[in-house]
Amino acid sequence: MAPADGPGSGRGTPSETTGALLREGVQRLLESGSETPRLDAELLLGHAVGVERTVILAHPEASVGADAARGYRADIERRATGEPVAYIRGLKEFYGLAFQVDRRALIPRPETERLVELAETEVMRRLRLGRAGDALLRIVDVGTGSGAVVVALAVSLRRLGAADVVEILALDSSAGALDLARENAVGHAVADRIAFVEADLLPDDGSRFDLVLANLPYVRRDALAGLPRATTFEPALALDGGPDGLEVIGRLLDRLPGALVDDGLALLEIGGDQGEAIVALVADRLPGWSCAVVADLAGLPRVARVSRD
Ligand SMILES: C[S@@+](CC[C@H](N)C(=O)[O-])C[C@H]1O[C@@H](n2cnc3c(N)ncnc32)[C@H](O)[C@@H]1O
Repeated sequence: MAPADGPGSGRGTPSETTGALLREGVQRLLESGSETPRLDAELLLGHAVGVERTVILAHPEASVGADAARGYRADIERRATGEPVAYIRGLKEFYGLAFQVDRRALIPRPETERLVELAETEVMRRLRLGRAGDALLRIVDVGTGSGAVVVALAVSLRRLGAADVVEILALDSSAGALDLARENAVGHAVADRIAFVEADLLPDDGSRFDLVLANLPYVRRDALAGLPRATTFEPALALDGGPDGLEVIGRLLDRLPGALVDDGLALLEIGGDQGEAIVALVADRLPGWSCAVVADLAGLPRVARVSRD
């Protein structure tokens, strides 16, 4: 906690307590229609002071310097316009790692951690089975956004001692998102493990992959307007799944025969109400292929496993 005369404080200005600033922020966010005013205010005060939210909660009597209080009030006003807390803090935790986030890409969601878990399990299973001629396992993350999936996977594989046996490509059609993904890869020291490519869905060079991972946009276009206000700050390209929500994923399915090796697997994140629709779509676009839907911790359909067998 920054003391009244600590760094960032305005000397000579009477300081305010964390408790009073929290109450003020919660009140302002309640009026603005925030669904989580208390949590938001705690996170933003922690951000302004430079400590964890739990420290704020433990010390309601602590004084806050004038500069930090000013920064906090400015952040509360940003939040009151609906801007997500993650963009204001510039930070989001995902898979136990801190990711830099901003308006160039979607804020990674907790449900996407399922995709990383499944990818990690699949990589390790394939490595245990052995690779012909010790060939590298080729992985592509389609629609990498902030790089959350691919960076979390690369960090996990490094921890498991498997970093040297995979070749990872992070792909997005947004140059801004790719820049952010690269920054996150550098931040987690895996930039040398990942190649970054700007393309529509897949590289055009005929590359084939053992694993295709994708969290592509899957929100139905007519449902976009009903999403929480915070999502209007995120790129539409990251959310808009077309009229039925499965337009972009459907275009990726069309390209899987040319992109997956014979025993390759695609792991595709879907919406919690799209389990039956994805099975029907795979049957239609890829006759003879299999599609199994894996649930998330809440029991909702979350990831489709698509392969030739
Ligand atoms: C739902 S966001 C997911 C971002 C990140 N993978 C995550 O899980 O947080 C979808 C991403 O797909 C990208 N995208 C949308 N259409 C695409 C396309 N046709 N080709 C490549 N990327 C696309 C968007 O730019 C966005 O970054």
